Amino acid sequence: MSLPPNLPEHVLLEPVVPTLRHLLSAPYSRLAVLTDTNTALHCYPLLREALPADHLHICVPAGEEHKILETCITIWQAMTQAGLDRKALMLNLGGGVITDMGGFCAATYKRGIRFINLPTTLLAQVDASIGGKLGIDFEGYKNHIGLFDDAEAVVIDPHFLKTLPERERRSGYAEVVKHALIADREQWEALQQQPWQELGWRSIIEHSIGIKAMIVARDPLERGLRKILNFGHTLGHALESYRLEQTPEKRLLHGEAIAAGMICESWLSWKKAGLPEAERNTIARYLSSVWPEPMVLEEEIPAVLDRLPQDKKNEGQQVLYSLLQQAGEASYNCAASQDEARQALEWYIKKGWQ
Ligand SMILES: NC(=O)c1ccc[n+]([C@@H]2O[C@H](COP(=O)([O-])OP(=O)(O)OC[C@H]3O[C@@H](n4cnc5c(N)ncnc54)[C@H](O)[C@@H]3O)[C@@H](O)[C@H]2O)c1
Ligand SMILES: [Zn+2]
Repeated sequence: MSLPPNLPEHVLLEPVVPTLRHLLSAPYSRLAVLTDTNTALHCYPLLREALPADHLHICVPAGEEHKILETCITIWQAMTQAGLDRKALMLNLGGGVITDMGGFCAATYKRGIRFINLPTTLLAQVDASIGGKLGIDFEGYKNHIGLFDDAEAVVIDPHFLKTLPERERRSGYAEVVKHALIADREQWEALQQQPWQELGWRSIIEHSIGIKAMIVARDPLERGLRKILNFGHTLGHALESYRLEQTPEKRLLHGEAIAAGMICESWLSWKKAGLPEAERNTIARYLSSVWPEPMVLEEEIPAVLDRLPQDKKNEGQQVLYSLLQQAGEASYNCAASQDEARQALEWYIKKGWQ
């Protein structure tokens, strides 16, 4: 696939304060700013000079475990108590949890008000804030309740990443690697040339958004091609959901689960989709060098497999995967059996690529 020369018009890779001032010069009735406790501390102060004095600040607890209906209720209550009408505008200032949940609350409040995403994590900048997928987790299942609706604008300022903990930045890097693996072989080669911490973020972010935006533009509602963005996510989501129910120390960040998912699904890609063995091993070796800690234990395999049938990507009884034919090229709707999924997890645990 070739890359588009420009970002989509509504995605602005610009310094946040002047860009926001400009965006807020268009009319709206009242502004609500949604943060979590961390972005209230680290990011909200950076915006204040661009915000009108009468804005409503809604702050929710940080973390994936709060991306649930109960938190939405507190958001809708704050909006209702402040008397926000249908011309109100919402700013979602935070990571993927805030852009997914804030967008969901905005898109459903009074049948939908406008919202702008100000993503503050690498993961949200390259992935979650782009493409219109909004939602929350439900009864332990990831993104189980939600809808598609586009942010009016997405302002991406890499400056926000300065306060982001390294573990979170590395989590976002998983989606950067995924974008390269599914659609851009040259970028995949380039990423391997230097330690991930030393990559130039502005250009990495721009490139990575370009890949996602191009795929989304071709298939906005995920009827087909967009499914390739789910590479690593079938087993990755199963693992993330399972761990979300365990003790807080066992929880995985989204990108960590996806990194493990991409290793397992590289094995499935080799088994089912023609990924050459040498490439399979290179991918696994690279991902396991960035994420050396084991994300799945042998005894967790049955619980992770049990999570697969609830995945949204299923049709009928088959579990469907998005797999690589080679690095830089992916296909979707590839069925694999539970036994093959188990073998993939075992290959990951035993580091079969070594
Ligand atoms: N909609 C989509 O297309 C899409 C795509 C990928 C992921 N997602 C979703 O995104 C979520 C994960 O996103 P995430 O990794 O950004 O998680 P997150 O929103 O929980 O943010 C990670 C942590 O970093 C903190 N934080 C955010 N910005 C900060 C900053 N600048 N400085 C310091 N701390 C900061 C947050 O408070 C949180 O503790 C998952 O729920 C996933 O399902 C959605
Ligand atoms: Zn993801």
